[in-house]
Amino acid sequence: MDFQLTEEQAMLRKMIQDFAKKDVAPTASERDEEERFDRGIFDKMAELGLTGIPWPETYGGIGADFVSYVIAIEELSRVCASTGVTLSAHLSLASWPIYKYGNESQKKNFLYRLATGEALGAYALSEPGAGSDAASMKTTATKDGDAYVLNGNKVWITNGGEADIYIVFAKTDEAAKHKGISAFIVEKGMAGFTFGKKEKKLGIRSSPTTELIFENCRVPEENLLGEEGDGFKIAMSTLDGGRNGIAAQAVGIAQGALDAAVAYAKEREQFGKPIAHLQGISFKLADMATAVEAARLLTYQAAWLESNGKPYGKASAMAKLFAGDAAMRVTTEAVQVFGGYGYTKDYPVERYMRDAKITQIYEGTNEIQRLVIGRMLTK
Ligand code: CAA
Ligand code: FAD
Repeated sequence: MDFQLTEEQAMLRKMIQDFAKKDVAPTASERDEEERFDRGIFDKMAELGLTGIPWPETYGGIGADFVSYVIAIEELSRVCASTGVTLSAHLSLASWPIYKYGNESQKKNFLYRLATGEALGAYALSEPGAGSDAASMKTTATKDGDAYVLNGNKVWITNGGEADIYIVFAKTDEAAKHKGISAFIVEKGMAGFTFGKKEKKLGIRSSPTTELIFENCRVPEENLLGEEGDGFKIAMSTLDGGRNGIAAQAVGIAQGALDAAVAYAKEREQFGKPIAHLQGISFKLADMATAVEAARLLTYQAAWLESNGKPYGKASAMAKLFAGDAAMRVTTEAVQVFGGYGYTKDYPVERYMRDAKITQIYEGTNEIQRLVIGRMLTK
């Protein structure tokens, strides 16, 4: 057993830390306040190779592993959780299913453009009436000659409106529940594909969350991903890895809040000494640091399992469940360490606390993670 990062992983971490500090952190609060997505940050990530971390060079990637991927999401989220989820949705939700289920032509076209950052990706499963019960979706795809005609609405889509390539799930057989769902690669600009409401949110406010509308949208049959009826399996197996990206986002948010709380506790004085010297505060910091470390270990373990070709669905659900809850606890305590100042926008901890909440909700709520873990334990 080796808990050391490899030289490549350590170098990547350092490179992302430098990038995050210089190009992401300075505008994080302002983008949050203005609910503004910055495509320029994504373009810079593309220049650094981050938009294709785990894919082979033949498909435009840099051929690194999934541990490197979670390190990237963690370090970005440590300063800006919105930037973390932009990359996580792009890599694990939009690119992974093409890498895993796409044919050679789909990989050379769509995966290559995603990996090089020429295109931004998104994943569209959820609907107004189908969140946790994803298979109850209503969007349909009807075969008509050499195309599928899509009709319906998707909601809550991360990178929605900004993304160029969307993995969209729709029913090709309305009568069959799970086995009647298929996956499609849909491009922005296709006739009949438009964008609806952009959500106003509690946190991750510089990550756009947008409704997708399909009205007789003709998608060429060569954009079918896998076989007809494979969609639910594709959606679920994609989430197996995606959930670990959210675990990494949660670890990063919690680490960012802990960093801020430790620094503040050392400089803020009450009763004639830094508050860090009060046992009530130092015990809090110790609990926070322990939670972050445990969450990180679960996350890295799930990524290691994926990189080494071992089953990782349960490990990933456990990492997301634990890390999401840890992030919520740690960020709430960070606000407490800052006292009244923590409740204001003069310090970043209130943003970390608002951002942490989503990690318990998306890519399957934490109740759904428990359901997934429970089923795997007893099946
Ligand atoms: N891999 C492959 N196949 C899988 C699978 C997996 N991980 N999980 C289930 N399946 C297969 C099953 O084997 C089964 O196949 P058979 O019929 O051949 O046996 C089929 O799928 C149906 O499985 P279930 O009976 O378990 O399905 P269910 O309807 O009970 O749903 C669920 C299970 C886990 C609750 C699922 O609906 C779920 O994950 N819901 C949450 C949805 C979710 O996470 N949405 C996230 C949207 S993306 C997002 O949020 C993005 C973002 O944050 C940035
Ligand atoms: P519901 O399913 O209605 O759940 C409501 C409550 O009931 C929750 O507490 C839930 O845990 C609980 N519950 C439901 N079923 C069970 C059960 N069986 N057992 C116990 N409790 C249960 N979706 C995408 O497809 N792509 C995206 O890019 C995307 N990005 C998102 C970004 C944001 C900011 C948000 C808020 C959501 C995003 N989503 C995305 C959707 C997200 O995955 C769903 O919101 C989530 O899966 C929950 O679905 P729901 O909101 O419909 O809640």
